[in-house]
Amino acid sequence: MARKRRIAILTAGGDCAGLNAVIRAVVRTAENVHGWEVWGVENGMEGFLQPRDEGLRRLTRDDVAGVLTQGGTILGASNRCDIFAVKRNGRAPRDESERVLKTFKRKGIDALICVGGDGTMGAAHRLLEMGVPVVGVPKTIDNDVRGTDRSFGFDTCIGVVGDAIGRLYTTAESHHRVMLVEVMGRDAGWIGLHGGLAGGAEAILIPELPYDPDRLAHKIHARIGYGKRFSVVVVSEGANRPGVDPTFRREQADRLGGVSFLVAEELRRRTVLEVRHMVLGHMQRGGMPSPYDRVLASRLGQHAVTLIAEGAFGQMAALKGERMASVAMETAARGPRKVPKRGPLVAQAREMGITFAAADGSDDPYADARRRYGAP
Ligand code: F6P
Repeated sequence: MARKRRIAILTAGGDCAGLNAVIRAVVRTAENVHGWEVWGVENGMEGFLQPRDEGLRRLTRDDVAGVLTQGGTILGASNRCDIFAVKRNGRAPRDESERVLKTFKRKGIDALICVGGDGTMGAAHRLLEMGVPVVGVPKTIDNDVRGTDRSFGFDTCIGVVGDAIGRLYTTAESHHRVMLVEVMGRDAGWIGLHGGLAGGAEAILIPELPYDPDRLAHKIHARIGYGKRFSVVVVSEGANRPGVDPTFRREQADRLGGVSFLVAEELRRRTVLEVRHMVLGHMQRGGMPSPYDRVLASRLGQHAVTLIAEGAFGQMAALKGERMASVAMETAARGPRKVPKRGPLVAQAREMGITFAAADGSDDPYADARRRYGAP
């Protein structure tokens, strides 16, 4: 009798809402449609490096029952494991990728699904070149994976940001304050932009448009001029000012966080209003996935299994418009998809009176006045 085909799945990088929905869809589709066995690799690529294959476990339909609405990942995740440069006990990094190949063969796994962001897709592509049949599923709350119109986790995150801004708004208004909300988005400002629009922020600082604190203060004063003695400002963690290190408050060498503190200091020197800031941090990544994310994650998981069935290795499942599609994993590995500075979303936000306080002068500083009092 022919051996049952075996596939494996891992979730790498930072967690986000919807990972379990992908795992569930993979297991169900693999079992229902193809009669394949599914194995879970624990903690991203790290699972391949454990002694006695302890990092791999069988996943059945029972194991994924009830996980659709659960945040996090039942497999665990890691954004610290580079199998091509593993760091152990302070020793020089070692390439341990061959161990992945060996585990793969020993366990008789036929194909691997890597769920992750650009870094994971880069590693997956290198595994492909070594002979591992691999397909990808894009994941990040930042919504900045190239090659797909959307990543799951983003919608849930925007819900958290929109809700937080709504709550801060009432305090801003009651106390006549400027409230700064720092959101995730290291390289791309999608969370800031969508979150700011969803919450009704007056100003949004994104990494793609370096900001000028004078222009930000100008916006706050323009609002005071027509009786709005408060403002809510969204600050992406990667927001930056020409010539100023945005990472000045980082706690770890390769992590951002804290730039809103700097912006708050800058505003205190420029406005008469009280200024407060808060960092939303990992609140944005946790919790129950939104229905949109559950659907998208499920569709991507199902499609990844289809890609394996078609032998389309090296491809990443993707959303194009409303359709499932696929792109080369190499595309995603090329780095984050940024917010286009002259794109429609930025333009629409500006027309609604939101400022990016862009240092390059691309915001119209008199937009508010013109709208209120008629064009000069
Ligand atoms: O890429 C996802 C992300 O949440 C970024 O927005 C953020 O900069 C980073 O991960 C935080 O990583 P960690 O969980 O390691 O602090």
